[in-house]
Amino acid sequence: MVKVAVLVSGGGTNLQALIDAQAAGKLGCGQISLVVSSNSKAYALTRAENAGIPSAVVRRKDFASGEEYDLALAQTLKDNGIQLVVLAGFLSILGPKFIEAYRDRIINIHPSLIPSFCGDGFYGLRVHEAALEKGVKVTGATVHFVNEICDGGEIILQKAVYVEEGDTPEILQRRVMEQAEWELLPKATAMICEKIANKK
Ligand code: GAR
Repeated sequence: MVKVAVLVSGGGTNLQALIDAQAAGKLGCGQISLVVSSNSKAYALTRAENAGIPSAVVRRKDFASGEEYDLALAQTLKDNGIQLVVLAGFLSILGPKFIEAYRDRIINIHPSLIPSFCGDGFYGLRVHEAALEKGVKVTGATVHFVNEICDGGEIILQKAVYVEEGDTPEILQRRVMEQAEWELLPKATAMICEKIANKK
């Protein structure tokens, strides 16, 4: 099995999609072994508890510097034998020390077709607000590797979703989750776990 940590900050619907995929035998050799939240009140923590998955809260504000935070977070994951880190709506910035500790072992779900509507400041509803402001007719979601460039790592999977007449950011966000994110993230996680397992 390949031990997976899921990093969250909010509602955790993508975490739920991973939990459901695992229960349905669709996570391949991936095993969700730890959930880490940057926010002690995140509903994602309740989802982890309901699924019997251990969780931890690691908050940037509890550390004097970004570097100390990076090293502490990486140590928590290493202590738990984590081999793949999945960012699922994780809003805290990960610095170079963390990225170096898990080079090519961190993936992220982003709610647009990268390179559109991504980079600094593009997260959650803001991404969908920007897509609607621009008037694009097609948007979607992307799973990509995480490197030092915000939303700039190699793309793993993408899926397109149509924008519809009368969409609000909330309606569009929900459609992108239902039609793309909840399908792509478990699929990409299973794919990368398979690669990690085969490298051993
Ligand atoms: C998801 O739409 C995810 O793609 C997005 O935050 C939401 C989290 O929802 N992530 C980003 O915008 C990252 N830049 P969830 O907590 O219900 O999974």
